[in-house]
Amino acid sequence: MKIVHTPDELKMLLKDAKGSVGFVPTMGALHSGHQTLISEARKANDIVVVSIFVNPTQFLEGEDLSSYPRRADADEKVCELSGVDYLFYPEASSIYGRDEVSLKAPDVRGYILEGTSRPGHFDGVLTVVMKLLNIVRADRAYFGQKDAQQLMLIQEMVRQLFMDVDIVPVQTVREVDGLALSSRNVYLSAPEREEALKIARSLKRAGKLVMQDILSVDRIKVEMLAVLEPLEVEHVAIVDRAFNPLETIEIDNTIILVEAMVGNTRLLDNIWI
Ligand code: PAJ
Repeated sequence: MKIVHTPDELKMLLKDAKGSVGFVPTMGALHSGHQTLISEARKANDIVVVSIFVNPTQFLEGEDLSSYPRRADADEKVCELSGVDYLFYPEASSIYGRDEVSLKAPDVRGYILEGTSRPGHFDGVLTVVMKLLNIVRADRAYFGQKDAQQLMLIQEMVRQLFMDVDIVPVQTVREVDGLALSSRNVYLSAPEREEALKIARSLKRAGKLVMQDILSVDRIKVEMLAVLEPLEVEHVAIVDRAFNPLETIEIDNTIILVEAMVGNTRLLDNIWI
């Protein structure tokens, strides 16, 4: 595995690469969710590139940019063991300059749900993903369904801007007790982690109701909120795959999302119906 620090060097190395390139962008503190993305990339491509970049533009004022977990050595080992060919570890100064062109997330779908609690967050995500995709020029790039709104916005960006890369969605990886893996789980104290399980439980409850043919969005939301009690819920949303609100669950076209604060930690989870 080669560790690369600058966009120019990576572009140079990949220029004459033979075969297909799979790319997994991350912010590091790698866990088995990230590892699953990497192994999907490994299975389908000749060359696998992983980036680790804690992107400053997607953190709002007062968020955890400076305290975001950074685990360079452990991450390097995970990548090495997962068969990564190039680990891209850029400095912010090699990614961003002054007075830049900017990308803005769509006015509606970039500013609902997580975009409401974190206005502008997705502008930063799309900007960095565009830059990274332009550097790597991968055939396929892998993103988790766990960040469903992010995934949808990246798919929209690629489609709307006629970009030449396949975006491959990967299912959410969970702990045995259901908690969705997230780099931010390390912030949770033991009692908070227990509380956090309510998020996955509320989604499980929703899944059960759907299996019982209860398809009313209002009814499902009420039941989910009861399970989530007393967490500070930012939203419970039931949308179609294009993120339009639904009144009735549509089988094979629905995403049920929860965003909640557990202590000071913002957690996201969802299920696809
Ligand atoms: P990060 O939170 O590090 O996540 C990197 C990728 O891993 C994302 O595509 C995310 O959806 C996926 N992922 C995280 N937890 C997962 C889980 N439990 N199961 C499956 N996939 C999971 O998302 C970002 O970084 C950044 O916003 C980024 C896209 C890298 C842009 O900076």
